[in-house]
Amino acid sequence: MGFATDAIHVGQEPDPATGAIVAPIYQTSTFVQDSFGHHKGFDYARTTHPNRQALERTMARLEAGTQAYVFTSGMAAIDAVFRLLRPGDHAIISEAVYGGVFRLTTQFLVQFGLEFTFVDTSRPDAVAHAIKPSTRMIYVETPTNPTMKVTDIAAIARIATARKLILVVDNTFLSPYFQQPIKLGARIVVHSMTKYLNGHSDAIGGAVVLTQPEDAERIYFVQRSAGAGLAPMDCFLVSRGIKTLAVRMAQHDANGIALARFLESHPKVQRVLYPGLPAHPQHEIARRQQTGFGGMISFDVTTLPAARAVLDHVKLCSLAESLGGVETLISHPATMTHASIPTEVRQQIGITDGLIRLSVGIEDVEDLVADLGQALSHL
Ligand SMILES: Cc1ncc(COP(=O)(O)O)c(C=O)c1O
Repeated sequence: MGFATDAIHVGQEPDPATGAIVAPIYQTSTFVQDSFGHHKGFDYARTTHPNRQALERTMARLEAGTQAYVFTSGMAAIDAVFRLLRPGDHAIISEAVYGGVFRLTTQFLVQFGLEFTFVDTSRPDAVAHAIKPSTRMIYVETPTNPTMKVTDIAAIARIATARKLILVVDNTFLSPYFQQPIKLGARIVVHSMTKYLNGHSDAIGGAVVLTQPEDAERIYFVQRSAGAGLAPMDCFLVSRGIKTLAVRMAQHDANGIALARFLESHPKVQRVLYPGLPAHPQHEIARRQQTGFGGMISFDVTTLPAARAVLDHVKLCSLAESLGGVETLISHPATMTHASIPTEVRQQIGITDGLIRLSVGIEDVEDLVADLGQALSHL
């Protein structure tokens, strides 16, 4: 079936007990057993529950994986993936990765004997060069948050396959509607489902989508042992959000390209980072591996006071962290989402003080242009 059909129906079959077209929220911690040693497939909700299983089936299908596990946040999902590594193992990570991943790896996971190298993964030669005998994983975010650098997933997958490394791709920014990394050779996909998958800014969640039975077995072991599996109500909310993913993403994309063009032509904007613009350095790679460009745009107004002036004057765009919801959010990565990255590293990877990140919503695009236009007129 097509993507939109799968997003609506896979894992979301009518409830067998009542015929309800929407599966009930199984808000229960435990499941009564039929007799000693016999139950209906569920025993205790930390291990799994019907709403989690339903969402995991949807995620596996949409990302073209064989199995998926959903967690209490994107970070919990990413943490579970790093637990595939053992002390002494080394992983290569995209240098402009989400700040939370930078913090998790450099301030926490290093304490358990793991080693990380941050590399510009948009350069396959740099990735190949960073591999050492202890390397076991390459972790790519594409496009990167908030610098919008695009990594050629198929090129990195060829390197990973040749060296028997696990290639993990964070697909949060595009969602499976615009990019399916497993089809390009990735072994594992991770998501912050908090973003486009849920799409309504009302739940936190993460997903790990797998292709290899041994990875799936280990991730499920982590999920049920450490207990960060997603709760029934949140699974229900994300499942509901996914049903409209296709129509939402198409609108985010249309609004994204319109706003990127508006900003590109604005005299107070120094540079616009959006892979859909022909001027973007990896525009051709993006066109090849993505079926759309989505709603994430970063733009530079040069200085911190200028960025502050824009953020202080927007009216329709909401000043907030996060992204991927129906409403347009605007943020300042250097002091908000990426504040945990040291200043010199931030400068080096292009997260300048004048950089503003937009998560373009699905409002009427004329209203968004008018709002940003009036905010920029204060510069
Ligand atoms: C690209 C990306 N990956 C992962 C995460 C972490 O997700 P969560 O906030 O759901 O833990 C985020 C959060 O902003 C993100 O932008």
